[in-house]
Amino acid sequence: MPFGVASAVALAGLAAAQAAEKPGEKTFRDYCAACHRYDGQEMGEAPPLHASPWVDGPAEPLIKIVLHGVRGRMQVQGKIYDREMPGFGSILADKTVADLLSFVRTTFNEQGKPVSEEEVRRIRERNESRTEYWRVDELLGGKQAGE
Ligand code: HEC
Repeated sequence: MPFGVASAVALAGLAAAQAAEKPGEKTFRDYCAACHRYDGQEMGEAPPLHASPWVDGPAEPLIKIVLHGVRGRMQVQGKIYDREMPGFGSILADKTVADLLSFVRTTFNEQGKPVSEEEVRRIRERNESRTEYWRVDELLGGKQAGE
């Protein structure tokens, strides 16, 4: 048993992408970690996912960000960002987005509730004709996240 655990840890360190992964984890590595870092901490221009009000908050804005992208001023962990993130709706299926966001929520927020495929499908359908990134103020409906 201790040997098994030690091997698993060593494997994860050596060949991270190949080690046994939770659903959504590979998608996170492939599409998000380059900007948000694998541990969800701040990197360069991208805000942290760890302890973020967006990850912690309702599912709808979070799903919209991943499907269509986001731009504009937002505050995360006390710091102001005013950048742009591209959307991934054209390359990630509903189930993939659901698994990805469930992974993000449970990994970076202790209370994280999973996101269902049905929620992603509903939000994608309602915004079918959207081509632009979401603006932060649209997502918040006038409120400021983290303020
Ligand atoms: C090209 C870099 C880039 C990639 C790739 C990227 N993001 Fe982002 N993301 C950003 C930036 C920059 C912002 C801040 C946008 C702003 O200032 O309005 C952001 C904001 C966010 C936010 C809201 C703020 C926060 O920190 O909680 C979430 C949630 C998020 N991204 C999740 C994801 C997920 C999930 C993926 C993978 C599908 C992803 N991002 C891929 C750059 C990126």
